Amino acid sequence: MIACASTDKLSLRVSVTDRCQLRCLYCMPEEGVEPCAHSDILRYEEIERLVAFLKGHFNLTKVRITGGDPLVRANIETLVSMLSRMQIPDLALTTNAQVLESRAERLKEAGLHRVNISLDSLHSDTFHRLTRGGELQRTIDGIRAAVRHGLTPVKLNMVVMRGVNDSEVKSMLAFALSEGCELRFLELMPAGMDRHEFDRHYVSCTEICSALSPEFTIRPHAPRPGSTSRLHDAESPSHGRGRFGVITPTSHPFCSDCRRLRLTSDGYLVGCLARQKRVQVRPLLAEDAVGREEALALAVQEAMGHKREDHVFEAPASMARIGG
Ligand code: 5AD
Ligand code: SF4
Repeated sequence: MIACASTDKLSLRVSVTDRCQLRCLYCMPEEGVEPCAHSDILRYEEIERLVAFLKGHFNLTKVRITGGDPLVRANIETLVSMLSRMQIPDLALTTNAQVLESRAERLKEAGLHRVNISLDSLHSDTFHRLTRGGELQRTIDGIRAAVRHGLTPVKLNMVVMRGVNDSEVKSMLAFALSEGCELRFLELMPAGMDRHEFDRHYVSCTEICSALSPEFTIRPHAPRPGSTSRLHDAESPSHGRGRFGVITPTSHPFCSDCRRLRLTSDGYLVGCLARQKRVQVRPLLAEDAVGREEALALAVQEAMGHKREDHVFEAPASMARIGG
């Protein structure tokens, strides 16, 4: 038996690539992002070995495939089937949905349960500017395909930025309700951008919620331990009722009960987004690695020990590098 195995729930985010078709303002600079060499990127078998280890020795309840954009990686459906065979209770994927329309059906068939989709604006020019090149209609077609093929609940992520898309919180909620999706407003985090840009654009969850009224009547749910999302019911005479979440990493950090672990596309475990620390595990994921289980157990323990309580970012690192 491995010494540090724990019964607490564990959730793993696997970044399968640092590449993305887009360059969202809050994620990456426009130019100068040097992608990792292909040989530095973990192979699916290596990812599978880590997931199998965590499934066997920890209470791994959730795996989320992220990037960059995971759909940029060839045959991501293959990884989905490999993970699906391991019976992960919650198998999800985050994408910008630019190419999801033609892939949703195959992803569902491969065993994916659900998707989270980044959607920051419903104006095609703002969308194009914010993502530096994205086409709004492609993402909307991707959202509809995800709903149609049962990759549900489809969650839409809107990172709210002052002066960029903060005038759209009401229309975004109306859109999400009408499409049968669950909207999650995200507070901006000081990752992937400089401090000045962050201060200029940050909008708190309190402001986001007040911007919804009076059109929507909103009622917060009781906080759920371990959850990063503050759920609310919303109701409006013209848009009906439903629920939405607000993710508050900046105003109300949830670090103290964070049970999330990240695997970077080049094979490091990251316990905390706000810190620069990472633990190299690639050599332990080789087919013939000696003493894999004991060494991986120590690596997981070390990465989980890197969590900090205050969510103060030591240095901005792009989410595309670490896994969004
Ligand atoms: N602040 C908040 N959320 C971010 N994401 C990426 N960078 C940031 C940031 N600086 C989230 C977005 C995106 C997902 C891939 O990661 O929700 O949809
Ligand atoms: Fe790409 Fe997602 Fe980063 Fe936007 S936030 S640039 S879609 S990885």
